[in-house]
Amino acid sequence: MSDTDREKGTAEAGRSRRPLFAANWKMNLLSRDVDAFLDRLAHELEAAPRQYDLLLAPSPVWLDRMAQRCRDLDLRLCAQDVHPAASGAHTGDVSAQQAADAGATWTLCGHSERRGSHHETDEVVCAKVVAAQEQGLGALFCLGETLPEREDDQVEEVFSRQLDPLIDAIEEGAVQPDPLRLALAYEPVWAIGTGRTATPELAAQSHALLRARLRTRLGPEIAERLQILYGGSVKPANAGALWREHELDGFLVGGASLDPGSFLDIIRGCGF
Ligand code: PGA
Repeated sequence: MSDTDREKGTAEAGRSRRPLFAANWKMNLLSRDVDAFLDRLAHELEAAPRQYDLLLAPSPVWLDRMAQRCRDLDLRLCAQDVHPAASGAHTGDVSAQQAADAGATWTLCGHSERRGSHHETDEVVCAKVVAAQEQGLGALFCLGETLPEREDDQVEEVFSRQLDPLIDAIEEGAVQPDPLRLALAYEPVWAIGTGRTATPELAAQSHALLRARLRTRLGPEIAERLQILYGGSVKPANAGALWREHELDGFLVGGASLDPGSFLDIIRGCGF
């Protein structure tokens, strides 16, 4: 899609940033399921140009299988993680170059399940963004607070701690703040996979805090152009209410993205 079509679609959608709807399948779905999912999208998606972008993050074993069809459908194909090193003795890991070679165009970085169960620090997450962009991948940088952090009134500190290494890397020129190569996803840990969604007001408040931090450190131009998605128990029933908050530029959907019908219903719930 051309940049002009992209801008036109964004304006028609009534948003200042282009909406992005992302599916994070985590460790779910088999080959037959991903094929069926793509069949359904091919059947139901309106012809390009669309007014929004779509991203699918399958298990790495399906990247290669999905690559050509994602190109045909103009979908971003996203790894769920990449290792910060270019190659080497890292059993079970996938490098950014390998993900790109298998057809990925984006990768998640710093999902809370990686931060939690794989002990990824803010610095490691940032190194992954650098590695991804070096290989031409876009990075969907995930962050968000835990319940104790929210209850202790630590949200602003947590956001700064998680964002600052990324902002430093942008200032140093190691990360490009280009929306075609970088987006953020705010995912409060207490809302992921729990059925407990942030209220639209709370989500909008957090997004505004994140954008304020970006504005303070990087200036208004960069702060205004980067998308911030919301994630955490988004489903067809709550998507429309969340979408009314213009601070939210799209969703990163886990459980409700496993079924193509419910993922499409979320997008339709936003008026597309
Ligand atoms: P969920 O997951 O929609 O199942 O809460 C979101 C995510 O972890 O990206």
